[in-house]
Amino acid sequence: MRLDKYLCELNLGTRSQVKKDIKAGLVSVNGVLVLRPEEQVQAEEDSISYKGQPCIYEGYVYYLLHKPAGVVSATRDRQARTVLDLIVDKTRKDLFPVGRLDKDTEGLLLITNDGALAHELLAPNRHVEKEYECHLARPFDGKQRQMLDQGVDIGEKKPLEPAVVQILEDKKITLTITEGKFHQVKRMLHAVGNEVVYLKRIRMGPLVLEETLPRGAFRRLTKEEVESLKYDRSSHL
Ligand code: URA
Repeated sequence: MRLDKYLCELNLGTRSQVKKDIKAGLVSVNGVLVLRPEEQVQAEEDSISYKGQPCIYEGYVYYLLHKPAGVVSATRDRQARTVLDLIVDKTRKDLFPVGRLDKDTEGLLLITNDGALAHELLAPNRHVEKEYECHLARPFDGKQRQMLDQGVDIGEKKPLEPAVVQILEDKKITLTITEGKFHQVKRMLHAVGNEVVYLKRIRMGPLVLEETLPRGAFRRLTKEEVESLKYDRSSHL
């Protein structure tokens, strides 16, 4: 790829800034000063330094964010803070969230630049499990459970797939779903005569939100977690 594109991908500046920096002699490739922004480089093989510091190029990166309420699941927003603003050690500028959580929903959000994996995880026929902790306005009862077990109608073309419910307390459950419709969990609980007052995603496929990761914090996925996402075949309900 072109040298200026490479530096841009590493989030080192806008295209015009990095072009200026290259022309000003701030970039070397394999120990040789390069003054042409269009110089072709091998991202994974050449050793490139910028302002005297070696650049570390990673093709794909994967973060698990504990999304707090109040930030939006988008790459940009005119008013609100976005989930990407929380990834403060970004080494790439092509990151995006895999799917969305509502602004007031908290919990596990995967952030990456791996479009193919994101596509796989969001594909309806992949049935990736999403598990939510739901705090409810009213006690959860057997009737509501039965309706969710059978696949509730929330006005989509077809009734939803059956959901798996675990009762934690009178007004607290976990709900596992395999689809990703707009406001799905809130609409499901509304359809069975209850209301969600607090929602947190605690799992997506094999990825689990650990209790030790504070709200607003993030971490890189381990290699094993990335592999498990690619090859997880256990996520069918
Ligand atoms: N279902 C919802 O209603 N909201 C979310 O943020 C995620 C799932």
